[in-house]
Amino acid sequence: MASEFLLERHFFTNLHASGGAGHERVWIMSRLAIISDIHGNLPALEAVLADIQAQGLEEVYHLGDLVGYNPFPNETVALVADQGIPGITGNYDQAVLALVPDPIGELLNAKITPMGKEIYAWTVRAVTAQTREFLLRQPRERSLAKGKWRLRLTHGSPRHIRDYVRPSWPEAMVADLLGEIDEDILLTGHTHIPVIRPVNGKWLLNPGSVGFPKDGNPLASYLILELADDVRATIRRVPYDIERTIAAIRAQGLPAKAGEDLRVGRR
Ligand SMILES: [Fe+2]
Repeated sequence: MASEFLLERHFFTNLHASGGAGHERVWIMSRLAIISDIHGNLPALEAVLADIQAQGLEEVYHLGDLVGYNPFPNETVALVADQGIPGITGNYDQAVLALVPDPIGELLNAKITPMGKEIYAWTVRAVTAQTREFLLRQPRERSLAKGKWRLRLTHGSPRHIRDYVRPSWPEAMVADLLGEIDEDILLTGHTHIPVIRPVNGKWLLNPGSVGFPKDGNPLASYLILELADDVRATIRRVPYDIERTIAAIRAQGLPAKAGEDLRVGRR
């Protein structure tokens, strides 16, 4: 926040110096960190937040799925709350809140595996009233303006919270999706696979997953977004104490395969 304020003041100073005509090149820069799909992996979140700080980024947003899969749902939510990181709700967060008659079928996967069911049931039992309260307060979507750029934050896609915007989508499908929104930049999570795709002057971006990457790279993933005249998007991969997460999976009696999947970065 502080750095953005200074840069904007720099912009106004320039305008003033040039007589306020506003014809000169406008230079406002926002630097944001976008994190998603932390899924109860506290050591991964801690490592990513440390990296964000080391990169000098002060503005962070999350794209939902704070809980599920990993054994630290309450600690993860407490850290996000403590850091004041604004964000949105994810399909797993909604499934844990169980506000619909069939949360698994409607929000997770109708063809869920026995392991998936076991982890979901554990998470529902584990979340505290305080965690539920925080998850309930997360909005479904957000729209932001940063300089001339407008950003839309959704968990799945603007069409549905559980929609997978897959990296394999042909350009025409991405163009159709981006054409349905007013914003210039669409930030989505949910697939756990990072994506940077400029299409027809708009951008589809996915930061990948902090707590359970599924692209075959086990390092925690997040996105740095720099907005000035142009868009610059960078994926960062961050090592974390994976053994601490795996030890907690074991200690909580969660399926050992959940830990093995973290090691290889896929399920
Ligand atoms: Fe999700």
